[in-house]
Formats: sequence, structure tokens, C-alpha cells
Amino acid sequence: MPAIVLVGAQWGDEGKGKATDLLGKDVDYVVKFNGGNNAGHTVVIGGEKYALHLLPSGILTPGVTPMIGNGVVVDLEVLFHELEALAARGVDVAKLRISANAHLIPSYNRILDKVTERFLGKRRLGTTGRGIGPTYADKMNRVGLRVQDLFDESILRQKVEAALEVKNHLLVKIYNRRAIEAEEVVQELLQYAERVRPMVADCGLELHQALEDGKTVLFEAGQATMLDVDHGTYPFVTSSSATAAGACTGSGIGPTQIDRVVAVFKAYTTRVGEGPFPTELHDEFGERLRANGFEFGTTTGRPRRCGWADTVVGRYSTRINGVTDYVVTKLDVLTGFETIPVCVAYDVQGERFEEMPSHQSDMHHAVPIYEDLPGWSEDITGCRTFDDLPQNAQRYLLRMEELLGARISVIGVGPGRDEVITRYSLLGDDE
Ligand code: GDP
Ligand code: IMO
Ligand code: MG
Repeated sequence: MPAIVLVGAQWGDEGKGKATDLLGKDVDYVVKFNGGNNAGHTVVIGGEKYALHLLPSGILTPGVTPMIGNGVVVDLEVLFHELEALAARGVDVAKLRISANAHLIPSYNRILDKVTERFLGKRRLGTTGRGIGPTYADKMNRVGLRVQDLFDESILRQKVEAALEVKNHLLVKIYNRRAIEAEEVVQELLQYAERVRPMVADCGLELHQALEDGKTVLFEAGQATMLDVDHGTYPFVTSSSATAAGACTGSGIGPTQIDRVVAVFKAYTTRVGEGPFPTELHDEFGERLRANGFEFGTTTGRPRRCGWADTVVGRYSTRINGVTDYVVTKLDVLTGFETIPVCVAYDVQGERFEEMPSHQSDMHHAVPIYEDLPGWSEDITGCRTFDDLPQNAQRYLLRMEELLGARISVIGVGPGRDEVITRYSLLGDDE
């Protein structure tokens, strides 16, 4: 039984939540290994819509043990808010496990995230304002707070005081804000301690044992390859490891335990926030993609920037993540376009790039080179096999498969749980 990593191949919002939900019935654990409540996953089950931010999407499937790994940053207020909202809708949330080593997002980091963005003005990153960047910075700076600190009040207080000693200078002297009382923060965090305690687990050990026992574990990434702090369009990225390798450091399992890597690729491209995006459209086609795909952020409600599919990004994702299978989502959104351009390479000041430019400035100057593929007009939302799809939709996928360099195993033709075409098993048991 396999360990499967599921990642986003573009700039997020590819439909990872739905893909995880799709696998839900076949897996025993769903582990979130990076990011925090900057993520927004919409899952539609039987016409009911669920929006998840901090919790792994697997929590919606009865029988699955959801886990928040050490690589995640946890906002406790959000955690309990989401848990309560799901419980009120009849979702069983009792099995949730949280790593003692996961870092906490204290309120001062939410404030710092927002004031820093404001301060940066035109140079802002367009963060979600959830305190993600400052919390990962504290982790690397070794002044972070961890879940386990909730159970040692004096250590927690010392750490908060030490952190605020520096941060209050920043807040008051640079950002012109009021100083924050350490005790306020300590009490804010401690109020959740006893509710968190029963969820805390040695996640790495539990996962190791689960895999030894032949259980299936799905590692669900937040964000995506191009937002990864190492491999994305730095500095226009998030602050965590959103690529497949992050599943190991963010959960405590070894690389040799991973069997498959599934990447989710939207049939076109979207991005929220700032940063380079070569295939972005500023015309009526972009508007149409946004309207047809309902491209507005699940977390911040911001309209997403839209553009055609970019297979330079896709090939890069295949390589960086070691992708075994693709889930191509939202193919239905392309219905009705007469021609569908696909970016196959970049032109950077006269030079052709088939692969991702290694210098960020080149990415900023990249002009997409398109191959025009013929579109289709038939409604495809009812298609359930590859052969049901119109000839041109099949052609689009087959060409995409060639350009991505990994098989397309699942195709999304609508937001609903059953609106998919499965060509190959994501568990790899048909190989
Ligand atoms: P995530 O962050 O990667 O989980 O993706 P989001 O949930 O932020 O955004 C994906 C959106 O597309 C959600 O609203 C999904 O319900 C929707 N979606 C997923 N797959 C499909 C699909 O195949 N077709 C359509 N039309 N919508 C889809
Ligand atoms: P899911 O999991 C799309 C973007 C933000 C911003 C940058 C940094 O739903 O795909 P941060 O708050 O993380 O410091 O912001 O990253 N971003 C996302 N974009 N989908 C997401 O998550 C994102 N999470 C962060 O818009 O540009
Ligand atoms: Mg999202």
C-alpha cells in the first residue's frame, strides 16, 4: 500500500482539495505537511460546498485520519473555528492529529504580515495576511512557538517575551503601531491548550507505523510548485516547501517511503497575488476564464489572475516533484473557446527557453510561445470516460500529456465529486 504525495503544479488553486477528496475513500491518512490557513480548498460533495483552509481536505471522508504535520503553521483560533463549523455540519472531526512540532501563528505575526505588506506598498507580495511569512521566519530564526510549548507555560511565556522584545521595536518604531503585551499573547494561546492536548501526536512515528502496517497515506500540499520558497518565483512565493520533497521534512517520513507523486494541473493557469505570470491574459479571454471558472480566491475572495496553460511551468513541476501522475482539472471551463493556445516555450529577448529560466529576471521578461489547439463546443460535464470526450478535448489532453512528460490519469470535468474521468488509478495499482 502506497504513500502518495499530492501537490499543486502551478500557482495554487488547481483543485487539490477535490483531488484529495477523490482519493479519500482509498486512503487511511491524509496529512497536510506545509503552509497554514493561507490555503483555500473548495470541495463540493452532493451539491454541498465545503471551504477548508487549515484542515486537510481528507477530513471530509469518514474513516480517514486527518493529520497536521510538523511542517504546517497553525493558527489555533482558525483551527477551532474550522473544526466547530465542520462538526456543526455533521462531519466527524474527532480523529484529527496534530504534530507537537508544528509551529503556532501568534497574533503578532498576523499583524506583522499585514503591516509589512502595507509598508512595502508597490513592492508588496500580495500575501494572504494570515501571518504565514513571519511565522516561518521565526521558525528559521529559532524564535518560533511550537504546539508543544502550550503544555509548558513558563517556556511559552519566555519565548513570547523574547520574540516580542524584538518585534515590539519593529511595530512601534518602524510601523508606528502599538506595542503588544506578552501576557495577552500567552493567554490567547493558553486558552486552547487543553482542547489541543488530546490531538497531539508523534506524527512521524504514527505514519511510519501506518505504512509498515500496509496503510495508505496521502500527503496533501497546500499552495503549489511555483509558490514553493525554494523552487517557485522567489520572492513572489509563500514561505514553505510546497513541492513533493516537503512531504518528508514536513511530516517526518523518509524519501524512500514515497511511492507516487500526483500533481494537480488546471487546464489553464491562475495566480493570486503579485509576481511573474508569463501567460497572463489582460483581455476578454482572461475575463472569460475567470467568469467560467469562477476564479475568485477561497481565502481572500480576490479575483484570480487568469491565463492559458503553461507547459514550461508544467515540465518544471514534473521534474521538481518527480511526478508520476497528473490530475488535469477544470477542462470543462475551456469548453466554447474556438482555439486554445498552449504555451510550449518562452521567448526571452530573442532566446528560446524550453525549460524554466534559472534567472528570475528572465522569467519577468518571458514572452510565451504558443501552439494553437482547436477547441470544442460540446458540454463535457457528463463525460465519464476518455472516449466520451469530444475529439478536440482528447487531442488537447494528449498533447498536454506529451508536453508535461507524465501521464494524465484523472481529468476534472466539473466541480462535483463525481465529475471526473479516471483513466488510470492514482494508487498505481494498474501498472
Ligand atoms: P485548491 O486550493 O487547489 O484545493 O483549489 P481551490 O479549491 O482553491 O480552487 C479550485 C476550484 O475549482 C474549487 O472551487 C473547486 O470546486 C473547483 N473545481 C475543481 N475541479 C474542477 C473541475 O474539474 N471543473 C470545475 N468546473 N471546477 C472544478
Ligand atoms: P491553495 O492551497 C494560491 C499566495 C498569496 C501570495 C503568496 C504569499 O489554496 O492553492 P502567503 O500568505 O502564503 O505568505 O502569501 O502566496 N498564496 C496562494 N495562492 N493558492 C494558495 O493556496 C495560496 N497560498 C498562498 O496569494 O501571492
Ligand atoms: Mg485554493
